[in-house]
Amino acid sequence: MAAKSTYVCQTCGAEQRKWQGQCPDCQAWNTISEQAVEVSGFRNQKVSLSHALTPESITTINSQDAPRRLTNIEELDRVLGGGLVRGSAILIGGDPGIGKSTLLLQASAKLAEHPGSVLYITGEESARQVHLRGERIQALHKNLQLTTSCDLEAMLSTIAKIKPHTVIIDSIQTTVTNQLSSAPGTVAQVRDCAAALIRSAKTLGHALILVGHVTKDGSIAGPRVLEHMVDAVLYFEGDRGHNHRVIRAVKNRFGPAGEIGVFEMSDKGLTGIRDASRMFLAERAVDVPGSVVVACMEGTRPILVEIQALVVPTVYATPKRSTVGVDSTRVAMLTAVLERRVGIPLGTQDIYVNVVGGVKLTEPASDLGVVLAILSAFQEKALPADLVVFGEVGLTGEIRPVGAPESRAKEAANLGFTQLLLPHGNNTRVQEANIAAIVRNSKQDGSWQTMPAKHLSNAVQLAF
Ligand SMILES: Nc1ncnc2c1ncn2[C@@H]1O[C@H](COP(=O)(O)OP(=O)(O)O)[C@@H](O)[C@H]1O
Ligand SMILES: [Mg+2]
Repeated sequence: MAAKSTYVCQTCGAEQRKWQGQCPDCQAWNTISEQAVEVSGFRNQKVSLSHALTPESITTINSQDAPRRLTNIEELDRVLGGGLVRGSAILIGGDPGIGKSTLLLQASAKLAEHPGSVLYITGEESARQVHLRGERIQALHKNLQLTTSCDLEAMLSTIAKIKPHTVIIDSIQTTVTNQLSSAPGTVAQVRDCAAALIRSAKTLGHALILVGHVTKDGSIAGPRVLEHMVDAVLYFEGDRGHNHRVIRAVKNRFGPAGEIGVFEMSDKGLTGIRDASRMFLAERAVDVPGSVVVACMEGTRPILVEIQALVVPTVYATPKRSTVGVDSTRVAMLTAVLERRVGIPLGTQDIYVNVVGGVKLTEPASDLGVVLAILSAFQEKALPADLVVFGEVGLTGEIRPVGAPESRAKEAANLGFTQLLLPHGNNTRVQEANIAAIVRNSKQDGSWQTMPAKHLSNAVQLAF
């Protein structure tokens, strides 16, 4: 049979019948390349009973021996859902230079305190470089075994020989198997190497952490294909302009997805920040128009962030709507709601919305904050300094309830805010949580005011 070819996108791994300039699955340009396929005769094989597996009743399976190993880096343990699970595979993705190697070296040194050893395999740096970093961030431990290699077969035999309890591969894109002739970092290489490493983790029982680089368009290079092979996918976020970093669980088979850990990057490495709200609000200017504090949820954790808006008369035929940290179509929609339902003429105004501190808000619960920030900027009227808002805004201007209102309210009270504007549908749950008690304990006067709103026009009156 003639050798057949298939055309594989190097970003998402989707296969096409013919070469195309743009991948129809992930819309990336110039990522499709030709690969040979081996044709196997599965279809006509007879079923043989000698290969039968022996399933076990689900009630008799022993799951007691699947303990978690804590990394003792609190923020990381939380994102993992309470430490590393034996035999699990975790993918950590992020831009180059964001701090993946730094965090993993810190975690390795902590994990090395557990009996047994940790194996750190780097294909990107020399052992000397890693040692220097380890010295700088005080992450040296005698049970942390370090080696430099790009060769998958060598890695697998080293793992089988040393039997470490944790293996870190930095990075999966530099790992190559001699079974394939394709270049390092291509979909075939990345997929096969990861599959072999994950298989060894499942059979030998060690936890495996793979580092994956993210390409410019935001997907891990090639390795979108890895996301479904591993048990957990964590993304490192943050921008160069700020020294805080957020690690987010996009997928987790052993814990809640969407959970985040917040770190601060310094020359001593990454330090966990428990009180993230305080950090995000540190530079806040009070009593200025266009600034609103919203209570949003990141995973199971409430965080207060500031949304800022600027509204200026446009000089173009079509007004500009520009956003950082919130979805621009959502902002366009909210602007339309504000125009139609509250009667604010924004058709000739340029609108800029920014979430302070490089945070990205994806929750509809930040809608009310965005609307009030725009309105406050337009009217040049500041909102009260001790006001926190949350709530989803619908197209008819109704304010819809959101999840976890008590946690949001508690976080606001803990940080000293005394007024809360919230959806009417969330009011009962917040009243039951007895936030006033928290405020009474932390403040002298103990004034705490919740302002439930059913409709945007109602919310606007309450806020200003
Ligand atoms: N001597 C240093 N002092 C302070 N920060 C440093 C120093 N060396 C490196 N860094 C920081 O560490 C980052 C590199 O992190 P690294 O863990 O290598 O990233 P990644 O593995 O994600 O590519 C750099 O962006 C820099 O901010
Ligand atoms: Mg690195």
